[in-house]
Amino acid sequence: MRQHADDAGTGAGLGRDMYRVNMIVNGEEVDSDVEGRTLLVHFLRNHLKLTGTHVGCDTSQCGACTVHLDGIAVKSCSVLAVACRGRSVTTIEGLASDGALHPMQAAFRDNHALQCGFCTPGMIMSSVDMVRRLGHELDEHTIREQLEGNICRCTGYHNIVKAIQCGARNSAAATQQSAAARAAPAAAGR
Ligand code: FES
Ligand code: FES
Repeated sequence: MRQHADDAGTGAGLGRDMYRVNMIVNGEEVDSDVEGRTLLVHFLRNHLKLTGTHVGCDTSQCGACTVHLDGIAVKSCSVLAVACRGRSVTTIEGLASDGALHPMQAAFRDNHALQCGFCTPGMIMSSVDMVRRLGHELDEHTIREQLEGNICRCTGYHNIVKAIQCGARNSAAATQQSAAARAAPAAAGR
């Protein structure tokens, strides 16, 4: 288990309301003391140094802070870290596996779906959840509607929509391939 010292200025040892928080982040158990008011996004960025999750607004509108909480996309600026005790969080840093980008990450790269990249982690986390909820064949209208909570300020949405359609289909292919890979040794052992 990783333990994390509190950042200077968080109030450790100053008698403020501190809480022990433990959760699974990107597959690893983490444990830290935080103030009760600490938002999940600040816990991830300031305590765990997972700065791929961005803060783009103060109003829970932009979606740059989107992560998965128990597999479901949430805006981490609207969740308290103490509310995540015992739960599982995935950030953009935890999406790749075995050194390979997640199909949705690869699709954003291949379709030039970013300019400055500030919105991109949140876009990708929302998109992966969109595929989980709605499946691998997504039409443009559905994608645009579902992206209502994610704002891109610079590149426009055309390539983002293309990337999500592509990433959704490629996710289906990747799922089939890994299922086949798991089945092959079992079949060989019969
Ligand atoms: Fe969370 Fe903007 S920083 S929605
Ligand atoms: Fe710059 Fe979306 S790529 S905000």
